[in-house]
Amino acid sequence: MWSRQWAISDLTIASIVLSVIILLVGQSFQPPDIACVKNLSSWSPAFTAVDSSWQMFRNGFSEKSIYRGLPNPAIEEAWSDILQKHPVLVPESDTGLDMDSTDGVSLVKSSDGQIHAYLEVFRNMACLNLLRQHTYRDEYDYTSVDAFQGSEPEIMRRVDACTQRLREVLMCIGDATPYLIMLTPEKAQKESPDFNTLHYCRDFDRIVEWTRDNQIDGGGLGGHNLYI
Ligand SMILES: *[C@@H]1O[C@H](CO)[C@@H](O)[C@H](O)[C@H]1NC(C)=O
Repeated sequence: MWSRQWAISDLTIASIVLSVIILLVGQSFQPPDIACVKNLSSWSPAFTAVDSSWQMFRNGFSEKSIYRGLPNPAIEEAWSDILQKHPVLVPESDTGLDMDSTDGVSLVKSSDGQIHAYLEVFRNMACLNLLRQHTYRDEYDYTSVDAFQGSEPEIMRRVDACTQRLREVLMCIGDATPYLIMLTPEKAQKESPDFNTLHYCRDFDRIVEWTRDNQIDGGGLGGHNLYI
């Protein structure tokens, strides 16, 4: 009896040890996420802030969000908080750019020679925000917003350029996740799409945080309009 108990616990220990070894060996063969990210995207100073996880979209028609609804100061502030207002600094050597072959194009640099840069996600957000504000122009006072300065055709050119940009971004991503149609006999519309699909998402808050920590205070766009 005694020796049999020992035999069982030996076996248990052995299988635990084996599991741990398999786990460790398995992990060492699994490329870390960041290696895939680096292979599949252009270089970014914010690579360290890229962290992805599986997330369910919360995309119901009536889903509440701080970014949603008729404009009010809180909604405007929420959108403003996720835009990049100042550049981050990128060491020239990190970009992989060959500065001798840039055909005489000069880049904006800080006094220590680092290049000024913005992250595209914030540009895309600014575009989406402009489209949002444009749809609510009759409901809210946007007269002090940069993108709404100038003539009506100028404003429309910005809105149109933003639509084109977001179209290009979405075509580039080409998200092929299927969404399914649910039978909804209880509703007036007997069939409804289920947009709550699963996606491998970057942690946007981490990218915002990284950008806040790394942007240079006071360095602005020097009169350039973010939306043009
Ligand atoms: C990244 O790309 C290189 C070269 O194509 C390849 O050898 C490597 O396995 C890739 N790594 C990952 C994690 O996809």
